[in-house]
Amino acid sequence: MAIPNSFIMQLRQTADIQDVMSSYCSITRAGRNQKCLCPFHSEKTPSLVVYPDTQSFYCFGCGAGGDVITFIMKIENLDYVEAVRFLARRYNMEVPDGGGEDRAYRMRTRIYELNREAARFFHACLLSPAGREGLDYLTGRGLSEKTIRTYGLGFAPQGWDHLIHHLRSKGFTMDEMIAAAVVARSDRSGTARFYDQFRNRVMFPIIDLRGNVIAFGGRVMDDSRPKYLNSADTPVFKKSRNLFSLNLAKNQIEHRRLILAEGYMDVISIYQAGFHNVVATLGTALTEEQARLMAQYADDVVISYDSDAAGQKASERAIPLLSQAGITTRVLAMTGAKDPDEYIKKYGAARFKLLLEGANSPMDFELLKIKKEVDVNTEEGKLAYLRRGISVLARLKNPLEREIYAGKLAEETGVSKAAILDQAGGMARREERTAKKREWNEVQSGRALYQDRINPQKASHLKAAMAEEQVLIYLLRNPDSLEKTGDALSEEDFVTDFNRRVFTLLLQKGQETGAVDLSVLAGELNPEEMGKISGLLAKSREMDNSKQQLLDSIQVLKENREQLKPADLKDGGEEELKRFYEQQKQKKNRR
Ligand code: CTP
Ligand code: MN
Repeated sequence: MAIPNSFIMQLRQTADIQDVMSSYCSITRAGRNQKCLCPFHSEKTPSLVVYPDTQSFYCFGCGAGGDVITFIMKIENLDYVEAVRFLARRYNMEVPDGGGEDRAYRMRTRIYELNREAARFFHACLLSPAGREGLDYLTGRGLSEKTIRTYGLGFAPQGWDHLIHHLRSKGFTMDEMIAAAVVARSDRSGTARFYDQFRNRVMFPIIDLRGNVIAFGGRVMDDSRPKYLNSADTPVFKKSRNLFSLNLAKNQIEHRRLILAEGYMDVISIYQAGFHNVVATLGTALTEEQARLMAQYADDVVISYDSDAAGQKASERAIPLLSQAGITTRVLAMTGAKDPDEYIKKYGAARFKLLLEGANSPMDFELLKIKKEVDVNTEEGKLAYLRRGISVLARLKNPLEREIYAGKLAEETGVSKAAILDQAGGMARREERTAKKREWNEVQSGRALYQDRINPQKASHLKAAMAEEQVLIYLLRNPDSLEKTGDALSEEDFVTDFNRRVFTLLLQKGQETGAVDLSVLAGELNPEEMGKISGLLAKSREMDNSKQQLLDSIQVLKENREQLKPADLKDGGEEELKRFYEQQKQKKNRR
């Protein structure tokens, strides 16, 4: 079952980390290294560094890090063995068969195949006499035959087990159908009964960036409920990580601009109207992950949610998420229709284009929102509008932008632009000071420095833990000294459990393979732990990594152990006992 280390080493030599990462992030040069926007947290300036020499990466912002395998585990959401297979496939390498394919990987592959077959079945039904009602519904909503084909739309017939029968005839098992969430199980009558999840609905397949069918949405054709039914999360589908129609949009993004709509039908209508760069979330509010996903393709997003209160609320929530991911947002100012689908039907594509071009900036949007909440016809309301407007203005970092909106605000309230700018400037400075103070307090209280989730013992054994880290860094950089160090230092010399575990692993793997590097550890440590190790490696670049440093660290650990061994006192004399207590006292005083 286990993949031999020799293969891992070979894979790691072939799968160059820059080559692999560059298909997920846009990497730029930074001296000897490369950097890019971290795909694992939201940021606007790159803090992830790629180190070609150690074939590792580390994000100084969020602490994600590791080797090429860790990267794939994290970004593709795979376990270790799956990630190795994934990379091997990409580089046409044959994974030595250590007892057959991994079970989880096999299941995922089966689910992909099953979903594709189900999508074919639904599509064929739509075009057959049995799907008449579905086809009438979709064409009735203005979709052309071409659009129906582009999106692979389908129809799930009325009845309990049409899909089950079909999938069974194609060799899929009931377990697989349940795992893919297209079939459900009921035990109500005492015996297990299985039935099609989607019945009498028009079907929208959800397709990922690699072209796999990963899930479905299904809509009723009348007013019954629920209006939409979506696949539950499965081993190949996570709602919060995917976007409807991104597979189509990604090839047609001009000027790195995306349109974000609320639902399936809006996306399809907008697409059919000629704007192919449109996506939607899958029945939930926008998530951070989705915002980051969009940031890989777009700098600019036009939010085109419904014009009702719920849609506006959703826009408000989406703006900060997108902005954190480095995206500039504008909000469609749509009137006369409840959603883009209806708008396009009513006023046509050309007018929708105008709407897109005139979409409000977040600032316009904010001001408009405030204006709706207060009554600007009263003095009191006007004052509230002014006060809140200025606080929004204070958040604008761009002086030119601040200037423009101050002018607008001045015009609307009759207060001079200079006074407004002055107020906003003062407010901005105060806020900056508070933020700086907060940061400083955090540093002072040591929280920022010593908190270490992976190695919680570090805080109370700082000196020893740092020495341990020095040893680990040295070994990773100089695998040829493993043996000697192993002779000089034993696991018992380690104080913190995490570092001890890494040390033991290095020795053990070193013996097995004759060499050691990050990718050997990746099989044993989880991605968070890998991040910790890569962080050590990354930070050690600005530090002394000499042999002398190693020897000093070993010395520290040895002394530490001498001092801290009450077990030795069992048969020690009066003298030794005294010395031990003295040492303990000193230690306490020092702290
Ligand atoms: N949605 C859902 N479950 C529901 C209702 C809505 O998952 N019971 C999701 C769907 O992804 C839907 C989106 O929320 O596309 C927007 O919902 P809504 O505005 O009600 O639907 P429309 O997109 O306007 O759909 P239609 O035009 O077909 O009525
Ligand atoms: Mn609609």
